[in-house]
Amino acid sequence: MLVLGIESSCDETAAAVVENAERILSNVVASQVLAHEKYGGVVPELASREHLRKISLVVDEALTRAAIQLEDVEGLAVTEGPGLIGSLLVGLVYGKAVASALGKPLVGVNHLEGHIHAVLLENKLAATNGQSSEATFLPAVALVVSGGHTSLFLVESETIGGHAVFSYKPLGQTRDDAAGEAFDKVAKLLALGYPGGPVIDRLARFGNARAVGFGRIKMKGNPLDFSFSGLKTAVLYRVRGTDLATEAEARRAWRRGVTGRVTDEDLRAQCSRATLDLVASFQNAVVTDLVGRTLAAAEQAGVQTMLVSGGVACNSQLRERFAAAAKARALQVLLPSPPLSTDNAAMIAAAGYYKLRAGLHADVSLTGHASFPLGR
Ligand code: KG4
Ligand code: ZN
Repeated sequence: MLVLGIESSCDETAAAVVENAERILSNVVASQVLAHEKYGGVVPELASREHLRKISLVVDEALTRAAIQLEDVEGLAVTEGPGLIGSLLVGLVYGKAVASALGKPLVGVNHLEGHIHAVLLENKLAATNGQSSEATFLPAVALVVSGGHTSLFLVESETIGGHAVFSYKPLGQTRDDAAGEAFDKVAKLLALGYPGGPVIDRLARFGNARAVGFGRIKMKGNPLDFSFSGLKTAVLYRVRGTDLATEAEARRAWRRGVTGRVTDEDLRAQCSRATLDLVASFQNAVVTDLVGRTLAAAEQAGVQTMLVSGGVACNSQLRERFAAAAKARALQVLLPSPPLSTDNAAMIAAAGYYKLRAGLHADVSLTGHASFPLGR
């Protein structure tokens, strides 16, 4: 089944054609980073307008790259939430219109379910010979960690009437900032650029991760919940009123004067050792927390597999630490490649495929939900 996926929940306008949740024929993502960069974060109104400008171009491009016609699409999958409501509605309304014009079935997909399916999709692909199915990797604990989410789920599947059906049990989630949001805010505070995650990832390699002892993040109540706002505040206190703040202001002024792209070398030259150490120690604290709670969740649930997905799953230290921890405990950790870790529509098409096959079609009442919990 050829599924056209559409994703517009935040600041990427994306469309993809995926066959049987297995083979990616095309995966087009139009990033809005340049539109939001100067504000240091996503501006919702701007995001909706950018989606409107790009949605039909992006869908056309996805069809062209897949070398198919719109009529060849057998089902559509669109993100219905969670996300920015104005952004969500652009992709949703577009998907509904196309589905109704073609007379093809449409399903709504939870964005977080999409992130989880990015891992399953890619690892099924890697298993080549078609022997492997999503069930090989399940039950698993999934960590979805991005700019908007930091959540742990127990993912299970069963076969009903010959079709795989997935269930998600929430195990924990952030009580305040998402991990990616903390990366972005710390980068903004230190005038390192936007989005902050990738910049901090690259700069952290030059700092000493043990220089600043942030200590473990303690959680009252559910030990599988997360909290990153305290860590962000701890960074703020280390910066405010010190040489680090003066340095950040100088960097801000320098950035404003730079026309064109800031290279990693240029940026590094603008950072003192103390800044690099702070950044490396911050990243280390976030990564330690994410890996630790995911391992605890796997142990508690008694599963052998961890699925890690979302923009922060691109982080190189996170990948290394998960790989090492999994090896030491004889667990399996699966991560998508970076293009499938960040927001994309292939993951929406993959998650949607199972719903289409199971006949869980949406009707005209399908609409966007800013808040849209996954599982129970
Ligand atoms: O999944 P995504 O594209 O969008 C959301 O659903 O939020 O994730 C974007 C987030 C941003 O906060 C970005 O800073 C973070 O992922 N991110 C990273 C890295 N690459 C992207 N965080 C840490 N290290 C990275 N390499
Ligand atoms: Zn996302």
